[in-house]
Amino acid sequence: SSIYGGLRSSYDYGPLGVSLKNNLAASWWRDINNDNDLSIYPVDTAIIQSSEVWKASGHLAEFSDPMVDHKPTGERFRADQVPDGLKKEDLTEPRHFNLMFETNIGPVHNENSAVYLRPETAQGIFVNFENVLRTMRAKLPFGIANIGKSFRNEITPGQFIFRTREFEQMEIEFFCKEEDQEEWFNFWINKRLDWYKSLGISEDKLRIRTHEENELAHYASKTSDIEFMYPWGWGELEGIANRGTFDLTSHERESGKDLTYFDPESNEKINPVVIEPAGGLTRTLFAILCSNYDEDTVNDTTRTLFRFNFEIAPIQIAILPLSKKDNLINFSKEIKTKLQKSFRTEIDITQSIGKRYRRQDEIGTPYCITVDVETVDDKSVTIRNRDTMDQERVEINKLHHYFENI
Ligand code: GAP
Repeated sequence: SSIYGGLRSSYDYGPLGVSLKNNLAASWWRDINNDNDLSIYPVDTAIIQSSEVWKASGHLAEFSDPMVDHKPTGERFRADQVPDGLKKEDLTEPRHFNLMFETNIGPVHNENSAVYLRPETAQGIFVNFENVLRTMRAKLPFGIANIGKSFRNEITPGQFIFRTREFEQMEIEFFCKEEDQEEWFNFWINKRLDWYKSLGISEDKLRIRTHEENELAHYASKTSDIEFMYPWGWGELEGIANRGTFDLTSHERESGKDLTYFDPESNEKINPVVIEPAGGLTRTLFAILCSNYDEDTVNDTTRTLFRFNFEIAPIQIAILPLSKKDNLINFSKEIKTKLQKSFRTEIDITQSIGKRYRRQDEIGTPYCITVDVETVDDKSVTIRNRDTMDQERVEINKLHHYFENI
């Protein structure tokens, strides 16, 4: 919306942002599947679902914040976030404001056509529990993962993409037996924390905070947040909740469908307990931008850079021919052809080599390859490391192997 002056809480991602976001999503998926003993099944569920889903999940009745209006200006605030200095008599009594975006399907607008944009990806998992169980012959414990857009009519969006009205979530509902719930709750806190560390977020910027009783969502008996030290202080990055049997039993009651699990050991139908690691993809991207941004001094000039790790960097390897001569450009193209099947690469030919290094630093490219006149004779190139600034001469036909072993 920026050419029209912008729309609060609405952001678009450009080419490099899309790459970073996709790489983070892929890393999340790889990480939750890197354990042979864990079965995690993916689903991709609808944004607009039957309104009955939100009735059963409790979102229609419970997903709201108490709000007050400032009578002189008509401004609306969360009851617990009224700015200092406003007079109490100018505020209305708190009223509940549902955070779901409502719209209508079909040509007739009435209460029967009302539908909602999903406020979490989680419910798409619960309503598909039986489908996955049956088609994948899933055995407890197992998880179902869903990733995609969610929408909340947040009253106080802000702090860039930390809290927006349209955002992406990456959620897992992990189904287990009641007696194993504590073990899996702790397992998922540690596993998810390790993932954030593996992205290069330093340990002192991460902490676990257990929710007080009065903070718990309507479905949770226990929740711990993984928090990140944002520029303004600690804030939520991901919540790990014990949702118990709340969702499956609610959907069972409202839909009349059997959503139990047949336990072959006890020969009984049981309601599995759910441990839910619920992360935000766009919020993680924000945390990565904050924690990877850096400035340092090179040859008396300041460079700004993102220290993205190799796995998630939008461009992993930039190929920089020292001149625009045909033979150097051809070598560069040949190198790109060799590397691009496995790595995200680009050839950058404009401006001085110094400026090109700075530009690649700014977008967080971990490695630059310079192709120079000697390349023609020795079939080698110089690899420059973004972080150490070390340079190394490597034969072109060993490049693939070099980057594979990073
Ligand atoms: N299914 C449970 C659930 O949705 P949540 O704590 O409300 O739990 C999970 O959301 C994660 O989604 C949060 O930890 C955060 O990373 C992300 N998230 C929630 N609301 C958000 C918003 N308005 N903008 C950006 N990310 C948000």
